[in-house]
Amino acid sequence: MCSAFPTPLYSHVGRGDFRDVYEPAQDSFLLIDALEKDAERLPCVCLEVGSGSGVVSAFLASVVGPSAVYICTDVNPAAAGCTATTASCNSVSLQPVLTDLVRVHTHTHTHTGKSDADLLVFRQRVSSMQSRGIEASWAGGERGREVTDRFLPAAAQLLSQRGLFYLVTIAENHPEEIVELLGQRGLEGELCSSTRAGNERLSVLRFSRRQT
Ligand SMILES: C[S@@+](CC[C@H](N)C(=O)[O-])C[C@H]1O[C@@H](n2cnc3c(N)ncnc32)[C@H](O)[C@@H]1O
Repeated sequence: MCSAFPTPLYSHVGRGDFRDVYEPAQDSFLLIDALEKDAERLPCVCLEVGSGSGVVSAFLASVVGPSAVYICTDVNPAAAGCTATTASCNSVSLQPVLTDLVRVHTHTHTHTGKSDADLLVFRQRVSSMQSRGIEASWAGGERGREVTDRFLPAAAQLLSQRGLFYLVTIAENHPEEIVELLGQRGLEGELCSSTRAGNERLSVLRFSRRQT
């Protein structure tokens, strides 16, 4: 597909002060492609949980424009700094927040005056380490869902009536089970896109609030 929006600049990621920040990879780009396809549905309060380099939110900001607010949380201090640098390199405005995902409610309210978000973006990789450094990019626990499972109830609560929630998974995360879990909390999920990256089957799931 030929993209109308260029990939944000990110040559500072993975070196110097930002050597311990997750470098944009195939999962980041699959998410960016999914968001671009939905460009016309994209809203005004965007929250990326685990922003890493900030490339995904910088892309969103270039697609949606300055009328929206972009809150980017991460537990890794270097990621928060990197997100700020990515924003300035790409002339967009992002709000990096150093926090654990479960405290996102407070920050969303501080930055927007609202208690919900129109767009949520989340990506966690698989491993079993608890950390605030680069290892946090892979923290996952059993089935790679330790952090994701903590976030799902917050996502179901935070999403606005017209909001969209994008979640990147691999097959080991059991995406069909995540769809079922969020279904019990009033969200409808569908497969947005998928691809193979090495041994991994990456998928982007998109959730919206079930209309009653
Ligand atoms: C796989 S990276 C993805 C980065 C970015 N979203 C992308 O697609 O390129 C996951 C990020 O989540 C962050 N993270 C891990 N646990 C977190 C938590 N509990 N709260 C917030 N961020 C977390 C990591 O530090 C890392 O930057």
